[in-house]
Amino acid sequence: MGTYSMQDVDALVADSLASVAALTSLDELRAHEAELDGKRSPFAVLQKTLGALEPDERREAGARLQAARATVREALDARRVALEADERVVRLTRDRLDLGDVVVTSVSAPLAAGHVGLVPSTQRALEDVFVAMGFTVADGPEVETDWYNFEALNIPPAHPARGMWDTFYVELGDPETVLMRTHTSPTQIHLMEEAVANGTLPIHSVMPGRCFRRDTPDARHLATFHQIEGLVVDRGISFADLAGVIETFTRAYFGSDIASRLRPAYFPFTEPSAEFEITCTICRGDGCRTCSQTGWIELGGCGMIDPAVFDAVGIDAREWSGFAFGFGIDRCAQMKHQIADMRALIDNDVRFLRQFA
Ligand code: DAH
Repeated sequence: MGTYSMQDVDALVADSLASVAALTSLDELRAHEAELDGKRSPFAVLQKTLGALEPDERREAGARLQAARATVREALDARRVALEADERVVRLTRDRLDLGDVVVTSVSAPLAAGHVGLVPSTQRALEDVFVAMGFTVADGPEVETDWYNFEALNIPPAHPARGMWDTFYVELGDPETVLMRTHTSPTQIHLMEEAVANGTLPIHSVMPGRCFRRDTPDARHLATFHQIEGLVVDRGISFADLAGVIETFTRAYFGSDIASRLRPAYFPFTEPSAEFEITCTICRGDGCRTCSQTGWIELGGCGMIDPAVFDAVGIDAREWSGFAFGFGIDRCAQMKHQIADMRALIDNDVRFLRQFA
């Protein structure tokens, strides 16, 4: 510690700034801080000499010293920030895991996992119910020929019943010979053909899948929708077996307070045919707008296999009998979850979809 005079102040500031700039680590900075800006600094030493001065001189000298110290302190603070940053880089580099080519990504939010959609999950639940009842699950093509979708099902060309199914035709082969299936019933034909070819009758199967119709979507219809078809071909099968399967399924899937009933109807491939209705799931049978005050909602069609269909696939109707049924999977989801408008199923609004996670 030397002796200084006020004439030295500018030179002392310059020296101090040079010393600050020369500091190479935080440890060094801490070691020299007191000499540069603390009690042992030349400015602190000069401060003590001020008492001997005249008041005016003292005031002026005091102000200069304060300004000098502030300049040095600012330089020290800036140097500290810079050295801290340098040392952090050194520390991070030293601590970094050497993982070769592995890129470690920090994920700030958990990735949202998707879930099975309502229609596929409804399809699986329906399959489960039928599998538990002894049915197998089979699959069929979505593009069919006119023969599988219509003719083999006893719907010849120009038959008025074709009006029940508005068809999308595929531009392949002769006009109107290849089409997007309008129902899952053609899969019955494939299954019966295979069973005849392989000698594997009887059949107890359900066949879920996508169907297509030239319908304008509304609250209860979609142009692309899903059905599940049921087919039993065995010896001595009666209408009572059909009614029993429908009733057992309805209670198992919708709950024990939902019943089924069959009402006479017409389908070309079954005789007799019926419409299959269940207790309205909205009002539980009391009557409401959805069920037009009847307490019942139509789910699908069913009936005993028409002998003309057995003929088409080469099954002897004197030995075998059977029943079939078909209904909408989307309609089932709608009924089970009380979805007012079926178009919600294809809108892809996550607020709707998340409810079924
Ligand atoms: N395929 C019919 C439709 O889409 C539903 C149907 C009715 C299927 C009666 C059947 C049945 O198997 O026996 O309108």
